[in-house]
Amino acid sequence: MSPSASAPAIPLATKSLPFLGHALPMWRDPMPFLLEQHALAPVVRLRLGPKTACLVTRPELVRKVLVTEQQRFDKGGPFVDTARTLIGDGLGTCSAADHRHQRPLMNQAFRHPCIVSYTTAMIECAGEIASSWQPGQIVDVCREMRRLACRALTRTLFSDPAQARLTAEIEEAYTVLMPGMWWQMIIPVGLVHRLPLPANRRFEQARRTARSLIARMVAAYRARETALDDGLSTIMSARDATGRAFTDDEVCDQIATLMIGGIPATADLLAWAFCVLSQDAVVEKELHDEVDGVLGGGRLPAFEDIPRLPFLGRVLTETLRLYPSVSILSRRVTRDIVLGGTALRAGDEVMFSPYCLHRDARVFDDPGRFDPDRWLPGRPGPEQREAFIPFGAGTRKCIGDTYGMTEATLAAAHLASRVRLAGIPGSPDPRPLLRMTLSPVPLRLTVEPRTAGARADAEAAGEPAPRRCPGPRRPATGGPVAG
Ligand code: HEM
Repeated sequence: MSPSASAPAIPLATKSLPFLGHALPMWRDPMPFLLEQHALAPVVRLRLGPKTACLVTRPELVRKVLVTEQQRFDKGGPFVDTARTLIGDGLGTCSAADHRHQRPLMNQAFRHPCIVSYTTAMIECAGEIASSWQPGQIVDVCREMRRLACRALTRTLFSDPAQARLTAEIEEAYTVLMPGMWWQMIIPVGLVHRLPLPANRRFEQARRTARSLIARMVAAYRARETALDDGLSTIMSARDATGRAFTDDEVCDQIATLMIGGIPATADLLAWAFCVLSQDAVVEKELHDEVDGVLGGGRLPAFEDIPRLPFLGRVLTETLRLYPSVSILSRRVTRDIVLGGTALRAGDEVMFSPYCLHRDARVFDDPGRFDPDRWLPGRPGPEQREAFIPFGAGTRKCIGDTYGMTEATLAAAHLASRVRLAGIPGSPDPRPLLRMTLSPVPLRLTVEPRTAGARADAEAAGEPAPRRCPGPRRPATGGPVAG
């Protein structure tokens, strides 16, 4: 199909400024701006400084881009191009041609038996984070969840006890690197981040450090006589049908991709889930009842417990609907196509937003309401399934979907069985802020031990008695920021 010469012009998004176009709202607070544009037309034109991008606003058209017409699109667009220069040509940023070689190799580290074997480290890390909190302590939940997700990923990738120190250094390097990454990504390549500014120098230093630490880890694994049962060993020993494997440099790109792709997305899912629980007493109570019933007596969760925690599963799914960690995606058109009556030419950039699609009132009843039961078996219909894309769809669908959901379920179950993260009266409601992923900002909650075990841990550590914190700030209604 080629674009028809008579295809109508693409409507321009509202609030365009001279020279800047829509760059300002896209920088400052893109989600409300994009939601507004969704009402305009199936495809809307955005101007980002000198560039333009087409925002696709209908689920059936996004499905065409991702699945049925995906051969006419490739990875590309404002964020992807910059990400490629920062983390290399790994699975998340590579072209379709490279992807055909990379994905089968990477899939080997995300097969079911691997995920099961990773759960020990995931649960261990959730336990360490929970034990580091003191009763009454106010925690920055986004920061803590990033700590948890970063530790879990580094330990599932690198399990060699001889490299424990290097693993901790990589964990530390990514904790430093992650916050600067967003600012580097939203500034166009070759412009401001080439200037010798202190922030740029610090970021570049952190990026080089992280890269050289990963290269040291890869070299240490290469020198081993036996392979380990962990992510890095699996990626290094993976072969495709022709017997081809990754070079060491390519392995480094893949590890950097997993760190950047996996940590903030999983961390923000957990942060939003605890944000919702702190504000919705009914959901929180049902979740606590379920978790206590399964993990009665304070035992640690295990992989086999996941099917026994269906309400928690629905809470996480509904959290991903209202607050999808990855809220904006983009592609570059490689072959002309007409999309919803709109002619797109090779080289055009398209964007779409899971956040906006998930809040479309034409698809979801009362879309701003946090309702885990909309995901009860048999409830979501084909329309909702088509529009719900927290992990993307098609050949570029998230490789870490099962990994992320497994970690989030086990970590949330463990944390919820030990503590309640309670709202601080009078503190502002968190709002969705896009910084690589969609974070609830600010989200500071008070740690209240729930079990005798958690209280005993705290007493053993010589901590003061728990400070009671009043219940939720608001009665049980919707999520924190209804859209
Ligand atoms: C709740 C957690 C997560 C969410 C919401 C999420 C979301 C996504 C989305 C929407 C995409 C598709 C991007 C696109 O189509 O352009 C994606 C791709 C990807 N994700 Fe995730 N992700 C999560 C967890 C993870 C984890 C834990 C890892 C790694 C350990 C990971 C690694 C990746 C990679 C490598 C890709 C690129 C896949 C490809 O192009 O073949 N993600 N993710």
